Amino acid sequence: MGGQKIVLGVTGSVAVYKSCELLRGLIKNGASCTVIMTEAAQRFVTPLTFQALGADQVITSDCNQAGTAIPHIDATRDATLLLIAPATANILAKAAQGIADDVLSAAILAARCPVAFAPAMNTYMWHNNATQRNIAQLIQDGAIFFGPANGEQACGDVGSGRMLEPSEILEMMQGALTPRLLDRCRVLITAGPTYEPIDPVRGITNLSSGKQGFAIAKAAVLAGAEVTLIAGPTTLKTPAGVRRIDVVTALDMYNAVMAEVSQHEVFISVAAVADWRVDAPSTHKIKKEFTGAPTLSFVENPDILASVAALENAPYCVGFAAETDNLIDNARAKVFRKNVPLIVANLVKDAMNQDTNAVVFVERDAATPLTRASKDAVAQALIAKIAQEVN
Ligand code: PMT
Repeated sequence: MGGQKIVLGVTGSVAVYKSCELLRGLIKNGASCTVIMTEAAQRFVTPLTFQALGADQVITSDCNQAGTAIPHIDATRDATLLLIAPATANILAKAAQGIADDVLSAAILAARCPVAFAPAMNTYMWHNNATQRNIAQLIQDGAIFFGPANGEQACGDVGSGRMLEPSEILEMMQGALTPRLLDRCRVLITAGPTYEPIDPVRGITNLSSGKQGFAIAKAAVLAGAEVTLIAGPTTLKTPAGVRRIDVVTALDMYNAVMAEVSQHEVFISVAAVADWRVDAPSTHKIKKEFTGAPTLSFVENPDILASVAALENAPYCVGFAAETDNLIDNARAKVFRKNVPLIVANLVKDAMNQDTNAVVFVERDAATPLTRASKDAVAQALIAKIAQEVN
């Protein structure tokens, strides 16, 4: 959210405490924030709380801001989004009717950016026909809704109406603010390690965590793609909106990819796939007292990326290369050997099981290094690069 200017409207609900955490999350993600509070909101927390948490300014009325000519007009002048969180039934009703009788409702009416609501109210208020009519009107007028969630409420009732958690709202905001560079494009991604059994308790794997591949899956969904993620053994949570297929061995991964690939326009091969598997894994635990150190023989696994790139109707293929030396030369050799237009090259020490990555986009006749960044940022840069190539 670097560079985004968010205006956070806060209304009077017990869920106001979540807005404090939301503000912190927005600032941590690089956004700058102006807060507008209603009088009712100020009975739950003071403006000073939001000020201390890093808001650029906290507007509490239309006439108390030194240096701001007309707060309800100026607040959203360069804003990316006006988000009302928590949004009570009252503010939804006012916004649906165009009532502007305080600084926040006036700012909504004057907004020159998209407006989003994260509702928070008692479940009977949420289900009331009047509230539902107001929501339908707001959606028709282009408003975005984040939630509400289901569950136990502060008053003891159970049902829809709880404000979403700040982390969920942040994720949805990212989705709403990300340009849909791969709108409805079907993207197939492999991620994580593979595991090749030696016997039922032992096997051969590698240090890939799956983080880079999962970050790419998340970035692709945010860019509007329909994503299938084929994941080797990892404990990572599936990113929202991603269809996930779990596999264990390289052969499993090969079979899953080959079954899926014809349904996809882009293939991104991030997985660290074992090049060899044990020829004949034992079906029983190998006992050292009976056999001593076993001698293992290996057979080569199929090269998934090269097999996909060789298909008659191959999707746009992107490979990765994790190297310890001669990064660009080794990556470029893979561009030719696997016959793919783009290899994302990274050093093992920079990439494997790390939270950040430093990559080079290696093509037949170009090598473009990116500065070290979070795996999310690398993923976004890769999605932008792929969008340039396929659109
Ligand atoms: O999972 P993380 O901890 O986030 O780490 C990310 C990563 C380091 C695993 C990732 O950024 C990366 O570099 N992935 C490729 C790892 C690799 O070792 O690639 P390779 O040089 O063995 O293979 C080159 C390409 O061919 C890769 O796209 C690979 O997916 C593919 N391949 C390799 C062998 C094989 N049998 N089938 C394949 O499809």
